[in-house]
Amino acid sequence: MRILALLLGVKAACILLVSSLSGTGAVNNSGRWWGIVNVASSANLLTNSKNVQLVLDPSLALLSRRQRRLIRQNPGILHAIVAGLHAAMKECKWQFRNRRWNCPTTHSPTVFGKIVNRGCRETAFVFAITSAGVTHAVARSCSEGAIESCTCDYRRRGPGGPDWHWGGCSDNVDFGRVFGREFVDSSERGRDLRYLTNLHNNEAGRLTVSTEMRQECKCHGMSGSCTIRTCWMRLPSFRTVGDFLKDRFDGASRVVYANKGSNRASHRAEPRHLEPENPTHKPPSARDLVYFEKSPNFCSHNGKMGTHGTSGRTCNSSSPGLDGCELLCCGRGYKTRMEKVTERCHCTFHWCCHVSCLNCTSTQTLHQCL
Ligand SMILES: *[C@@H]1O[C@H](CO)[C@@H](O)[C@H](O)[C@H]1NC(C)=O
Ligand SMILES: *[C@@H]1O[C@H](CO)[C@@H](O)[C@H](O)[C@H]1NC(C)=O
Ligand SMILES: *[C@@H]1O[C@H](CO)[C@@H](O)[C@H](O)[C@H]1NC(C)=O
Repeated sequence: MRILALLLGVKAACILLVSSLSGTGAVNNSGRWWGIVNVASSANLLTNSKNVQLVLDPSLALLSRRQRRLIRQNPGILHAIVAGLHAAMKECKWQFRNRRWNCPTTHSPTVFGKIVNRGCRETAFVFAITSAGVTHAVARSCSEGAIESCTCDYRRRGPGGPDWHWGGCSDNVDFGRVFGREFVDSSERGRDLRYLTNLHNNEAGRLTVSTEMRQECKCHGMSGSCTIRTCWMRLPSFRTVGDFLKDRFDGASRVVYANKGSNRASHRAEPRHLEPENPTHKPPSARDLVYFEKSPNFCSHNGKMGTHGTSGRTCNSSSPGLDGCELLCCGRGYKTRMEKVTERCHCTFHWCCHVSCLNCTSTQTLHQCL
C-alpha cells in the first residue's frame, strides 16, 4: 500500500505525520530525506495548498516536520526534489564508475548505505552532490513554472553592452539555494564535527551550482542585426556540477573541529569552526569538500562498514589507472570471459525520414575481479 491515507485538513494531517514519525525512531536524521527518492511516482505526493489535500506516501515519514511544512508551502516542489535526487545519484555513479567505490545505492530508505554515517571523502561527495541536485532542480523548475511559489529570476544582471537588455528568464538559483539551505540542511543535528562537515559539504554543492551559472543572450532587431539583445543566466549542466565536485573530491581537505574557546556555537556552519588537520595547509574555502576520516579501502565486503567490495566488477586489463584490473581488483586477480554483444550497424537513411540498421554480433572480452 503506497498511499497511507487521504486526509482533509492540515491539523489532521499533522497528527498523523507526527505519529508515523515517532514509530521510526528518528535518531540519525542525517540524509534521511534521501529516502523519498524511492517514491514510485510523485503523483502520490502532490499537495495542493488551496484545497488543503494531502496524499501521504510512507516515504514522506522520512522527512522532518519542517521539511514537510516546506513541501506544503511550495506546491510542486517535491517533484523537483525527487528529480534532483535522481540526477545526483546518476551523476555520482557516473563520476565514480571506474573506482573501487562506485557510489552504490539501494532501494532501502538509507539509499547510499552506511557511508553517509562516516566522515570520509565519499561521504562528502554524497552530501555535496545531493544538495547540488536539489538546488539545481528547484532553480530550473522555478523558471519552468512548475513550482507555485517561485518564478524566473528577472532581476538577474550580468555584464553586458549598452544595448543589452537584461530581464530574460533566468534560472532562479537564489531560490534554489535558499530552499536547499532550509530543506536539506534541516536534516542535520548537533554541533559536532560531523554536523559542521555535512553542512559545509551541502553548501559547497549549492555554491558550485550558482557559481557556474552562464550568461545566454538572444538577438533582436532588423534581420538579425542584434542591435538589442535579451540576456539571462542559465544553470550549468548537471554534468558540469558533477565534474567540479569530483575535482573537489580529489582535492578535499581533512579537517578537525576547532574549538576556539567559544561556547556560543552558532547553528549555522561557520568556517571558523572547521580547520585543516594539518596546520600548514590553508583553510578550506566554501567550495572545497571537507572530510575528517580516512576512507576504507573498499576492496572487500564488510558488513559493518557497509562496503560491497570489488569482487565481480568489470576491470580494464590494459589500463594502469584506477579502473585497471590490478588496482580495481586490489591485487586478487581477475577472470576473463567472452560475451556476445549485439549492436546496430550499417545504418542507412531512407528519405524521408527513417533509419534502418542491421544487427551485428561480435564477441567482447570481459575481465572481472575475483
Ligand atoms: C547514527 O550515526 C552514527 C555515526 O554518527 C552511527 O554510529 C550509529 O550507528 C547511527 N545510529 C543509527 C540509529 O542509525
Ligand atoms: C582501457 O584502458 C585503455 C588504456 O587506458 C584505454 O585506451 C581503453 O579505452 C580502455 N578500455 C575501455 C573499454 O574502457
Ligand atoms: C535487431 O534486433 C532487434 C532486437 O534484438 C530486433 O527487434 C530487430 O528486428 C533486429 N533487426 C534485424 C534487421 O534483424
